[in-house]
Amino acid sequence: MDKTALITGITGQDGSYLADFLLEKGYQVHGLVRRNSLPNTQRIHHILNSKYNNVKFFLHYADIADSGCLVRLIGQINPDEVYNLAAQSHVGISFDMPEYTAQVTGVSTVRLLEAVRASGKDSRFYQASTSELFGGLKDTAPQNESTPFYPKSPYGAAKLYSYWITVNYRESYDMYACNGILFNHESPRRGENFVTRKITLAVANILAGRQEKLSLGNLDAKRDWGFAGDYVEGMWLMLQQPLPGDYVLATNETHTVQEFAQAAFQVAGITLCWEGSGINTKGYDKQNGRLLVDIDPALYRPAEVELLWGDPAKAEHKLGWRRNVSFSNLVEMMVESDIKMVNSVK
Ligand code: NAP
Ligand code: GDD
Repeated sequence: MDKTALITGITGQDGSYLADFLLEKGYQVHGLVRRNSLPNTQRIHHILNSKYNNVKFFLHYADIADSGCLVRLIGQINPDEVYNLAAQSHVGISFDMPEYTAQVTGVSTVRLLEAVRASGKDSRFYQASTSELFGGLKDTAPQNESTPFYPKSPYGAAKLYSYWITVNYRESYDMYACNGILFNHESPRRGENFVTRKITLAVANILAGRQEKLSLGNLDAKRDWGFAGDYVEGMWLMLQQPLPGDYVLATNETHTVQEFAQAAFQVAGITLCWEGSGINTKGYDKQNGRLLVDIDPALYRPAEVELLWGDPAKAEHKLGWRRNVSFSNLVEMMVESDIKMVNSVK
């Protein structure tokens, strides 16, 4: 019998790649979607138009903040595996919406765990934990499963609750529940207000003459950026082991936001040269002196995570997980995809 999976957050970046991956493996995939005033299914459009739709692929209206529908859905679907990816996932915006973020990114995890527990079925549970849990550590890197947590945002604090409630349900009720502590992962499907996609889209728009320049916040923050397609395989591997556990997925490399911008413009044949520092930093086209990057202080966060750099040794040894896409290939993939997309819009 094919296995059945339920994915919350299926319309997001990771949910869409995970759905592709599980369908390829022969799973029956169910996705939870929330009602929006406009369609929010662009990232799974290709699946909705494929042979899988309504045969192996099913969407259900629900909200991760609504316990009743979670209990009902888990009861109806009886999933072998539950992937909890739904969240208010933007760190910067969590400072503007801290209580909402606590509800959706934090408390909703226990709603879903309770729904699984109430069903009486042994569904395996994946929780989308994050490197933001390590946020405030400056001297401890690379970070691994033993590194202490120090969240620096309402998002990080909400995810800390989700991390520990997942561990708690594993220990209290003998549930097969895992935390994937994932460092930043990106792709052409990344939301447009995360920094990598904001940069690659700006490069494409500037090249097409549709945008004058790109304004960013903190250019000095360092992130460990991998490719989302590699990371969804790691999520699945965590649920295929004899025993549940918590795993870091990362590339073991770290780059500044400025390096990402430099690399992205370079893919389009533009070499940036930089002047100034901090909020006075400016990036010019080396060839013609045109201003292409400046700083908008409003994009700085009330508290910043300066350094994320992950050590995936445990996942590599125990799960056999490997990332396949390098930093430069990731930047290239995203810029090329955005150039194609911008050029296809009249
Ligand atoms: P994303 O693109 O922002 O997707 C978030 C998903 O959650 C979307 O499908 C969104 O639906 C859904 N959602 C939000 N609020 C909901 C609600 N109240 N009810 C039901 N669904 C709701 O995020 P992502 O990058 O794919 O990340 C997936 C998960 O991994 C998130 O939990 C994120 O915090 C975590 N994570 C991500 C990274 C990363 O670098 N990408 C790293 C570590 C952890 P709509 O489409 O309707 O908005
Ligand atoms: N979004 C954004 N926009 N970030 C900017 C900008 C800008 O214009 N300018 C500089 N940055 C800096 C942010 O201050 C941060 O230091 C870094 O770029 C990355 O920001 P994001 O791309 O928004 O990602 P994030 O690292 O805060 O959070 C992502 O990764 C986490 C895992 O570490 C999200 O996907 C989270 O959901 C995830 O948990």
